Amino acid sequence: MREKDLHGVRLLVTGGPTVEPIDPVRYVTNRSSGKMGYAIAEAAVRRGADVTLVSGPTHLDPPAGVTTVQVTSAEEMYREVLDRFEAHDIVIKAAAVADYRPAHYAGHKMKKNDSSLVLEFVRTPDILAELGKRKSDQFLVGFAAETNDVEQHAIHKLKQKNLDLIVANDVSKPGAGFDVDTNVVSIYSRDGLVKELPKMDKRAVADALLDEIKGIRDG
Ligand code: PMT
Repeated sequence: MREKDLHGVRLLVTGGPTVEPIDPVRYVTNRSSGKMGYAIAEAAVRRGADVTLVSGPTHLDPPAGVTTVQVTSAEEMYREVLDRFEAHDIVIKAAAVADYRPAHYAGHKMKKNDSSLVLEFVRTPDILAELGKRKSDQFLVGFAAETNDVEQHAIHKLKQKNLDLIVANDVSKPGAGFDVDTNVVSIYSRDGLVKELPKMDKRAVADALLDEIKGIRDG
């Protein structure tokens, strides 16, 4: 019985890519469509939660009933998520945050010449790792998009970032991960595998994840 079972829960979810500018007309980003994060926001609000979605640039409409905060870069997502962290009970980070950004932003369109171009990149802040350091009683969920040694990498991220759960998508599988309507995920806690799900629509993955979070929080 799921109807309004998250009433009173304050849930923050991130979705989509971040976009890191090089100059006024160029940028680096990734293939995240936002579908996974938006599906979680929609499922949570349908189930009665008070939902904030911090979204990188996507082509999706903001979900009805959800407070949507649009951001562009990893730095912006960091600020908007950190500002809201203490006011939420559950944080789910489905966004594909750029790990690096160009070290220098060229204020004018960069001109080409005959030589090759080398760009320097610097690390962006790790939002989830910072939340893991600051967390008091919030329930923290990360995602991991992996192509090999999926369980090993996911559990490493869970421990390194002090998470309660991690959702590993094996993006080498057809119908999983970036820019598709379905996903293939396994959910891990510190004790190991919690649930392995078959290929499912991202909306069904969202509900299954919320079921697991609710089950653990309710004890
Ligand atoms: O948007 P879709 O097209 O629907 O695709 C969904 C998805 C594949 C993007 C999503 O399901 C997913 O897996 N998101 C995480 C992508 C990823 O590879 O994350 P990561 O392994 O780089 O990071 C691990 C976790 O740390 C993630 O929860 C991420 O949001 C977070 N992170 C990462 C880097 C950073 N600087 N700050 C972060 O908070």
